[in-house]
Amino acid sequence: MSARHFLSLMDCTPEELISIIRRGIELKDLRQRSVLFEPLKNRVLGMIFEKSSTRTRLSFEAGMIQLGGQAIFLSPRDTQLGRGESIGDCAIVMSRMLDAVMIRTYAHQTLTEFAANSRVPVINGLSDDLHPCQLLADMQTFLEHRGAIQGKTVAWIGDGNNMCHSYIEAAIQFDFQLRIACPEGFEPDSRFLAMAPDRVSVVRDPREAVRGAHLVSTDVWTSMGQEEETARRLKLFKPYQVNRELLDLAADDALFMHCLPAHRGEEISHDILDDPRAVAWDQAENRLHAQKALLEFLVAPGYRPE
Ligand code: CP
Ligand code: NVA
Repeated sequence: MSARHFLSLMDCTPEELISIIRRGIELKDLRQRSVLFEPLKNRVLGMIFEKSSTRTRLSFEAGMIQLGGQAIFLSPRDTQLGRGESIGDCAIVMSRMLDAVMIRTYAHQTLTEFAANSRVPVINGLSDDLHPCQLLADMQTFLEHRGAIQGKTVAWIGDGNNMCHSYIEAAIQFDFQLRIACPEGFEPDSRFLAMAPDRVSVVRDPREAVRGAHLVSTDVWTSMGQEEETARRLKLFKPYQVNRELLDLAADDALFMHCLPAHRGEEISHDILDDPRAVAWDQAENRLHAQKALLEFLVAPGYRPE
């Protein structure tokens, strides 16, 4: 199949990623000026959600409508996917009717299997391994607030999870240093660490990771699908809360990001999202703009209004 997919940040070149993010900023400006731009007229995005979502569903659905197209929400509960039809067969059928498919799933292999059988672009809306769309929004947010992230230092605090893996890929693609602070046993997968030994380091002490960093980012301690581990995780991750005291160790112009949803009192203190260094609401909004740029790139590259 010849379609271009976005399952990981590594599916694009660094130049393509930068141009998608810059385009996201342009599309944001068009929307703020109420300029109609509909390159995806009559195009349809299918969205398969095996896990819950607020931001991802809304940003893709609103984004498609704003670009002149439509989005269809599909849950395994009410499709044959939940009754044993194979992923490959679903991909063949769905991709004959749709112009792109977004999937939020557990096993990353679901995405690769679907993509291998799809005629149209497949987008990773989060898997147990990666969350590349969130990184587009995060990188757009950093660019808007502080300029290029190249050569900067980023601290990832907490779980070595799907978001952390995408930060590792971002360190490679956007050329920054990443310091990860996590409890023993919760390191990122060695497959991802092995991709960037020169750009990524893992430490135990969150203060060591944050000291002098230009961006500090964290995420929930219990990801979707890990709910039965919650009690154990709450105990082990306690020293990894991002609060003002920890953030004060970062660079003077540091930003704080959280992909949301946040659990105040757990991975962040109650006050940190109100701190002037926090840009989580901009990050959330930028999901819309960055993904519109991604959809345009994948579905209607080179579109010029008449
Ligand atoms: N950050 C993010 O992906 O949020 P949702 O789970 O609400 O989609
Ligand atoms: N790591 C979190 C991210 C949610 C957007 C999860 O997978 O649940």
